[in-house]
Amino acid sequence: MKSLFDELSQNPPDPLFGLNAEYAKETRPFRANLSIGVDIDRPNTAPSIFPVVKKVEKEILEEEKTKTFLPIAGMPEFIDLAGKLIFGPQVSDRIVGLQTLGGTGALSMAGEFLAGEITRSICLSSPTWANHSGIFTKTGLELEAYPYWDGQRVPFDRIVDYFRSVKPKTAILLHPCCHNPTGLDFTREEWKALSDLFLKRNLIPFFDFAYHGYGNGLNEDRLPIDLFMEAGHEMFVAYSFAKSMGIYGERAGALFVVMQNTRARERVTNHLSAIARAVYSNPPRHGSEIVARILGNAAHLKEWEEHLRRRREGLNERRRLFGERLVGEVSEKYEYVIRGRGMFSLLDLSPEQVMRLQNEFAVYIPRSSRINIAGLFPENMDHVIKAIKAVHEKK
Ligand code: LMR
Repeated sequence: MKSLFDELSQNPPDPLFGLNAEYAKETRPFRANLSIGVDIDRPNTAPSIFPVVKKVEKEILEEEKTKTFLPIAGMPEFIDLAGKLIFGPQVSDRIVGLQTLGGTGALSMAGEFLAGEITRSICLSSPTWANHSGIFTKTGLELEAYPYWDGQRVPFDRIVDYFRSVKPKTAILLHPCCHNPTGLDFTREEWKALSDLFLKRNLIPFFDFAYHGYGNGLNEDRLPIDLFMEAGHEMFVAYSFAKSMGIYGERAGALFVVMQNTRARERVTNHLSAIARAVYSNPPRHGSEIVARILGNAAHLKEWEEHLRRRREGLNERRRLFGERLVGEVSEKYEYVIRGRGMFSLLDLSPEQVMRLQNEFAVYIPRSSRINIAGLFPENMDHVIKAIKAVHEKK
């Protein structure tokens, strides 16, 4: 008998999760997983749990009294504290916040809201995180792309030219720090220029804040949000605690909408809540409980900031070592790797060279040739450099 599913098409594997699953089957002794963006302590391990997270989980186990539903918009303490973390202590009534299923949930919910009520199109950086186009295509927004990479640097003049020509009320997706995949961010002056231009042209800033604390520091990484707030923008911020607290699988994210005044506060909350209710009803408790307990307790907060600082500094140091070896042993053009921040950098490799890295050297990076620096260690650095050198030599 013919099945309902006989004609079902097949989507390609996810460029990051698919590759990660492929790597799990890899057995060669010299291997390196530089694919998905997770921060690990040793090669071939899963990300460890921050000690302060373990501590508050013990509290939760002892003190939690119910597993009842959270409100549709999420846990109020979590939203309040996450808002203070992102916007500073003076979070105002002009900001509406909702707990979401990770940063992806926030992006998707904002995308659906934008498409339904506010605008027709969203402009993504080219290149950008592999999942952005999938998320926003599903929401029905038309996708556009602004140039973000010229092979060595961020071509700011071309970006400005591009934004001068997009339609007013286009949403512009921005990475406030640790741009994924280039690792290169705008300078303070460039952010200021963009802020002025967006106000002049009536463009909608939409920040995807997924690597808070992994760039230059918790306060430093908020710079563009602070600048855009000061300038009086209405804007969107999608936030993820996956990396900054190492709670990847708890799906603790938030969406904030900044409005010019409080008039539409109830209606914005109402629309976003309706989207959440129809998709997953209300968000999960555990991740938000962890976050609220850390951000809401001075000692826990300090411990978290300290741990995150050590992770950031360790990552930046590995980036420096790797970048210097690339420059010294492979090509001077890789100087930009040293200048980058966060987990990622782009190598200038073709898809064929990327496949050679995988087939001949068991070094796994996505076809975009993005490399996750958090997967590099003294134990595998020589092997990775040797592999990159070899595929460069025989282009
Ligand atoms: C990445 O870019 O590797 C991370 O953001 C993980 C993911 O969900 O793709």
